Amino acid sequence: MAREIITLTVNGDTREILVSDRQTLLDVIRDQLSLTGTKRGCTTGACGVCTVNNAQGEAVLSCLTPALEWDGESIVTIEGLEQNGELDAIQTAFIEYGAVQCGFCTPGVIMSAKAVINAHPEPTEEQINAGMAGVLCRCTGHIKVKDALRNDHLIRARSET
Ligand code: FES
Ligand code: FES
Repeated sequence: MAREIITLTVNGDTREILVSDRQTLLDVIRDQLSLTGTKRGCTTGACGVCTVNNAQGEAVLSCLTPALEWDGESIVTIEGLEQNGELDAIQTAFIEYGAVQCGFCTPGVIMSAKAVINAHPEPTEEQINAGMAGVLCRCTGHIKVKDALRNDHLIRARSET
């Protein structure tokens, strides 16, 4: 088993981390950095609960990607959305529209939603559907999540920046 030190910026904090060629990005996030907001579910790319955002603001399934490939990269996890005690606008929208579901799927749902907004500040129905397709939870449906992604709170937040 090969081991290597990688430099990874997580939620703005740059760290040097010893990883093995058997570890995924998810293993590092949860087991070495103790950022347990990102969940471990199927570990096969099917459920979306391990979703984080990469430096481009895109959704990444952290269970599928080897940790060694992240040397020099940066990611944002659910813990990094809040800034200086202020929730991100997408988190506020989820609360306002009742889109928060169980604690297991919600972090991945929010990080997927954040990636949708990063790519499409005013997403169409198709863009929302495509961006949220990787989230497996069907317990309560996606209606409230879609409401949050379309909501006027996000539009207000954008107009204030
Ligand atoms: S744990 Fe990564 S997709 Fe299910
Ligand atoms: S898995 Fe979270 S509400 Fe269904």
